[in-house]
Parts: sequence; structure tokens; C-alpha cells
Amino acid sequence: MKDFERISVTRLSGALGAEIGGVDLRQPFDELTLKEVNRAFLDHHVLFFRDQNLSPAELLAFGRQFGELNILQPLVGPDGLPEIMRISKEQQDDYAVGHVWHSDAPYAEIPPKASALYAVEVPDRGGDTLFANMYTAYDALSAPMRDRLARLTAVNGGPYIYSARGGGSQFSARDDARKEGDPVFSSAVQPVIRTHPETNRRVLYVNPAHTEYIEGMSPEESEALLAMLYRHGSRPEFICRFHWRPGSLALWDNRCTWHYAANDYPGQRREMLRLTIKGDRAFFK
Ligand code: SIN
Repeated sequence: MKDFERISVTRLSGALGAEIGGVDLRQPFDELTLKEVNRAFLDHHVLFFRDQNLSPAELLAFGRQFGELNILQPLVGPDGLPEIMRISKEQQDDYAVGHVWHSDAPYAEIPPKASALYAVEVPDRGGDTLFANMYTAYDALSAPMRDRLARLTAVNGGPYIYSARGGGSQFSARDDARKEGDPVFSSAVQPVIRTHPETNRRVLYVNPAHTEYIEGMSPEESEALLAMLYRHGSRPEFICRFHWRPGSLALWDNRCTWHYAANDYPGQRREMLRLTIKGDRAFFK
């Protein structure tokens, strides 16, 4: 029996990531296709779709098939759609949003389940996005380290990635939003090891962009432990790398991956549209 009837699934690396073929994302999925895409999503953690041609409204309709969407632009979003964030780097910009390993919004009490990123304009070369598998990062830790980490919690904050260092031209827009109480400037305590609500597998849940410190440790201890975990989590064995073309779309499971936007295209423009799908539950309720 074939694994999939409606879609084709081509793995991108040993660690995670698969390219999905056979679908036009402008059309709603039928029941079987949605089931197969969801299965591939849980198996491969990040899915890539090529050669799509989506308007912002069609991107939203695609995202809604996986759950309720978060509001990302409390002030104003592209085309008046507050669920879409435009992530752009202009020719004169030095910094790119997301050029540090992170998962999306661990500073929210309930972080997103998934994120979708759609390429509108990409540089001739460079501007890839890298993804890392936090299941395998967890599995590759020693048993004593896993036991130790399972009892720890960490404070996660928003500002770094949207700051002038982390966000370049996005900063002023986000800074305005701050005045309106943008959740990006909140912080939340999260477990260092979380259990994925659908697969019940454990994952490493700290990241270099947002995790500020581990609770109950001295600053020196916390920094040393986090530095070790960041080196570990970004090992090449846990990674896949995606090269964008206009019309490519990535859908990642934000509960078990990190991602990193490579900032290696000086003088060129890149424009992406992003949405996030609401998460399932808070960890400490
Ligand atoms: C992000 O960090 O959400 C954006 C990643 C990218 O632009 O490649």
C-alpha cells in the first residue's frame, strides 16, 4: 500500500523536513489530503511547498485549515490583514529578522503550534532558512542531562529578535506596537523540556533568541548551561536547509523545531509573509 495517496513526500535531510508535491494551495484540502498533510507534518516537522501563487487572503485560508490564527500585527498588517506579518529586508538593511536560532513566541503563555512562511521576493542567492529538530536534540542528550533538564524552567522574552540588533528595519514598527501592549514584549516561564501534545515525544525547549535564563540558577550557571544547549541544538546532524524561490511556502511545527534566517545576501531585497497558528495549551495550567 502506498503511504500517501494524494500527496508526494520527499525528505530533505536525515534530520527533518520534507517537500510536499501534488497540491495547489489555493484550493482547500479535501479531507484525505488534509489528513495526509497533517501526518507528514507530524512525521517531518517542517513541510515545504513549491511553486505556489498565493494572495495574502489565500495564505490565510491555507493557514486556517490547521487551526485558529494568531493576530501578529496589532496595528496594521499587509492588506489590512492583522494575522499576517510581512518580514522584509531592504537592499540597504544590514540585519534580517530571525537571523538567530529560535522558535516562534515562547514568550507567549501559549506559544504557536505552527508557523507558515511564504516567499514573495527572494535574493538571487542566499536568504535560505535553516531548521533544527528539537526531538533529536533532546534524544541525543545523555540520560543524566535529560533528567536534570526535565526539572528546570526558563524565562523566555520577546524583545531581542525584534530589536535593532535582531530585526533591522522591523524595529520601528515593532517599537510602535509596544506602546499598544504588543505581546512580543511580554515574557513567559516555560519548561526547558516540553512534551509535544500530539506525538507525546519530548523536545528541548530553550532557544538562543528568546530564552533569558534558567530559573533558580546563578547567571554564570544559567549562561554556561544554555550555551552548551545552544551548541548542541544547532549541530549539523539536527538540521535541514531550505532554499527559497518566489512562491515557496514552509509550514513548521513550532513545538519541536528551531529556525534561522541566513543573512547572507547584502544589497538584495527579500520579502516574506508569515502567519502563526494558535497553540494548544499553556504548560503550567
Ligand atoms: C522567522 O524567523 O520567522 C523568519 C525566518 C525567515 O525569514 O527565513
